Formats: sequence, structure tokens, C-alpha cells
Amino acid sequence: MEEIYHPPVLLKESLKVLKAEEGGVFVDATLGGGGHTEAILKAHPENRVIAIDRDEEAIERAMERLKPYGDRVSIYHANFSQIDRVLQMEGVERVKGVLFDLGVSHFHLRGERGFTVWKEQPLDMRMDRSQKLTAKEVVNELSERELARIIFRYGEEKFARKIASEIVKRRKRKPIETTTELASIVEEVIPKKLWAGRKKHPAVKTFQAIRIYVNREFEEIETGIPKAAEFVEPGGRLAVITFHSLEDRLVKNILRNLEGFTPVTKKPIVPTEEEVVENPAARSAKLRAAERVRP
Ligand SMILES: C[S@@+](CC[C@H](N)C(=O)[O-])C[C@H]1O[C@@H](n2cnc3c(N)ncnc32)[C@H](O)[C@@H]1O
Repeated sequence: MEEIYHPPVLLKESLKVLKAEEGGVFVDATLGGGGHTEAILKAHPENRVIAIDRDEEAIERAMERLKPYGDRVSIYHANFSQIDRVLQMEGVERVKGVLFDLGVSHFHLRGERGFTVWKEQPLDMRMDRSQKLTAKEVVNELSERELARIIFRYGEEKFARKIASEIVKRRKRKPIETTTELASIVEEVIPKKLWAGRKKHPAVKTFQAIRIYVNREFEEIETGIPKAAEFVEPGGRLAVITFHSLEDRLVKNILRNLEGFTPVTKKPIVPTEEEVVENPAARSAKLRAAERVRP
């Protein structure tokens, strides 16, 4: 496997809000490269981590990295919406903290699954490759109306209807197979004056929308966070790192409405300038946390 490193985002801040140095059982609901898990394990010699990821390749890499920690870490290939089943298998009823570091990892962006507009790859976008639905099916098979709805809802893309209409026109001639084909359709639809000369590719919003739909990301968040909350012990915490405004709004509302929880900070915690310089991918990260104050 190619050596790729995923720098864990808001690492010190996450450890602090999780109170990882106090010792206990934690869940890392999004194991990825294992950076947060490893830091939690290092924070206290008695910490245990139950880690989940839906991507088997991520799990393989992280397992290697976490070998030295032996049975202080257990790893599950699952969706975090299945956290109740995972904890049942572990025989764990209460945990001190749960971390969600949402979205895709560097492994996804640097890999070959069509997550980025910048590389020509097949339209896939599945985090879990054992899942059936791919971005290619979404782009080539959904109705124009459904495509427009998805691009607008999950990408907040003003040109969603025009993009959907152009996709449907093109796919009648020939199926849309690659990221570059999709990206160039979006480029043609969005007036050039709105994106020419800017760093952000005009198709980023459309790609985000399709990725969220393929991976049922919002359904996962809506189910997973409240389920995880049920297992947090009094004084324990939920910590969630988001990477775009839609995700952040969703998480903010879920945390606000959790029975028995109160926010740890009024405003979300954001990366320091130093972190953003070192890791530009962290620039839009926001950490929100809530503590169980009533059983
Ligand atoms: C941003 S990365 C996590 C990086 C990790 N914290 C680290 O330090 O390396 C997000 C990971 O969560 C996984 N993931 C995203 N949504 C998931 C879900 N609903 N259930 C399980 N894993 C999920 C992805 O496959 C990805 O590996």
C-alpha cells in the first residue's frame, strides 16, 4: 500500500474536550488513519479505545499502526450508526467519550475512488467498498428532479437544476463514467466569470453533494450521534469535528437537542493558524462537544 499520512485535525483540542488524560473507555467512531485513536491511547496508560470505520482499507492501515497497543484497542468494520451493536459485542455499557471526525480522509482524497474533482478517476465515491451504490449509478440513473434535489440540498449549489438537466442530456448520449466528465459538465453550466481564476473548482459543491448522498452521510450523523450519546457516562463527552457548513449546522442542532447534555463551549473550537499552515485541509474544521450532565 502507498504510504499516505492523514494528519489528525484538532488533535490536542479533541483530547482536551474528551478529557482523555483522565483515563477511561473511549469510542473513535471514525478511525481513519488512527491518529486520534493513537493519541487517546497515549493520553493515559489505562485508556481503551473501541474504534469504528466503514472503510476496510483504512482499518487495515490503522491496525498496523495500532498493533503496539494490543488489546487496549478493538477495531470494527461498521457504520457508526451501528455503534450500539458494536458496544454490545464489546460488552460495554458506558463510555467516557465518543469522537466523530467526519468526512473523508487523505487516503480517500489521494486514492482512486473519484472523491476529488482534480484527478481523472472512475465515479465511485464509496467510503465502504462493499456497498453497492456508487456515484456512477447516482449520476447515470437518478431522475433529473432527484439529481437537482440532491445537488441543491447537499451541495447548496444555486445551479443545481441546470447541472441536473445537463447531466441528463449528456448521459442520453453516453454514460458519464469519470470525475473529469462530471466536472466538465459543471464547468460548462456555471458561468465562467463566477469561477475563472479562483482556486476552488466550480464542481466542488456538486461532488460534495453526490458524495454525501452515496454514503448516506447525513442519515449516519442523524442516527449515530444520538445513539452514541446514550452510552456516554455522566461527566463524559461527545466530540464532533465537521468540515463544511451544512455538516456543522446539522451537528450543532443534534447536539443542542440531546436530552441530558449541555454544550462544552458556546462557540465551536477551530484550528490555530499554525495548524492551518501545517495542514491546509484543517482550515474549515470545527469541533463541537457536549457533556452528559444528567443520567
Ligand atoms: C476524517 S477521517 C478520520 C481520521 C482519523 N480521525 C485520523 O486521525 O486518522 C474519517 C473516517 O471516517 C470514516 N467514516 C465516515 N463516515 C463513517 C460512518 N458513517 N461510519 C463509519 N466510518 C465512517 C471514513 O471512512 C474515514 O476513514
